[in-house]
Amino acid sequence: MRRFLNVLLVTIFYCLVLFLKCFESLPVTNQVVLDHHSLVRLKQWGYISSDDSEVKSNTNPIQQLRLTHKLVDALKTFQRFAYLEPTGRLDNATREKMAAPRCGMPDVIPAEIKNRIKKRFAAQGSKWQNRVVTWQLENTNNDGLTVAQVREYMTRSLKKWSDAANIDFREIPPTPAGPQAPASQIRVQFGQGNHGDQFPFDGPSGTLAHAFFPLSNVGLSGDIHFDDAERYTILDPPRSSGLIKFYWVAVHELGHSLGLSHSELFGAIMYPFYTHFPGLEFNLTQDDILGIQSIYGEKSGAFGPSAPPSPFTTLGFVLVGSLIHWLLML
Ligand SMILES: *[C@@H]1O[C@H](CO)[C@@H](O)[C@H](O)[C@H]1NC(C)=O
Ligand SMILES: *[C@@H]1O[C@H](CO)[C@@H](O)[C@H](O)[C@H]1NC(C)=O
Repeated sequence: MRRFLNVLLVTIFYCLVLFLKCFESLPVTNQVVLDHHSLVRLKQWGYISSDDSEVKSNTNPIQQLRLTHKLVDALKTFQRFAYLEPTGRLDNATREKMAAPRCGMPDVIPAEIKNRIKKRFAAQGSKWQNRVVTWQLENTNNDGLTVAQVREYMTRSLKKWSDAANIDFREIPPTPAGPQAPASQIRVQFGQGNHGDQFPFDGPSGTLAHAFFPLSNVGLSGDIHFDDAERYTILDPPRSSGLIKFYWVAVHELGHSLGLSHSELFGAIMYPFYTHFPGLEFNLTQDDILGIQSIYGEKSGAFGPSAPPSPFTTLGFVLVGSLIHWLLML
């Protein structure tokens, strides 16, 4: 009996704690957590599932409370990803960050962010099955870059990844558009607004580009679309010019084409927000390199999923990962 009472007391205590915890982060008033625009963006970037965005149309108060909580949590997760104070409110800094130039691909899903400890990069889960991947520039653009410049910078961007991991690329030179054009695996296009996939571009700034993961290795797999409404450059103007450095965006989108998701490490090439690097050159960060090597292995290694990592590689990876994590905590 005594034992039963103890269990009961402990249970009541934990229920109380849970109850209080549930209400501690409630919005004080019944305010709208997110406006429509922010809701759409958080949905696009993967912070809110479609089911959870129906808070307005849902009239059941318990459901509303639950959904409001999810929206506040989603906003906090976005704020952490963007290195802002996780206030859970749509404050000025958060609004500003939501309008900042960035990649249109989703960030990692919230549960992953919370649980990830050792590494900041994220592999999406699919990869190219052949060691040499073909690519082709399929059209011209209105951005002030010549075809030759786009090809040169695509080549330089591809080299960043092929220098870091066991993957290579072969260009199929541009051909006049049409059914006779040889199909490449990574097809590179410039497009405006609605451009044929289900992810329309939004005009200048905001979304700069998006790319498809390797997935089944056919069709849209690996394709890269640049928003033709941007003003891209290969020069080194100040950030205030509003010009976007094509090189950075190309390397970032290629990361997706090869199977990397967004990294939460500020400064990594796979960080979702546009980073205006100084000068004309930049390097992949160690996080990006570990990321691409986790998919294709080191440059000299055997290609393909058939080669299991040796215990040494695994240990080295974990050690390096821990070291980076430790350094980042400083
Ligand atoms: C937020 O921005 C608005 C308009 O831009 C401004 O009036 C307001 O003072 C800002 N609030 C804070 C806390 O910075
Ligand atoms: C990139 O790395 C190379 C080799 O480690 C180094 O020589 C170069 O200065 C680096 N470039 C930049 C812009 O950091």
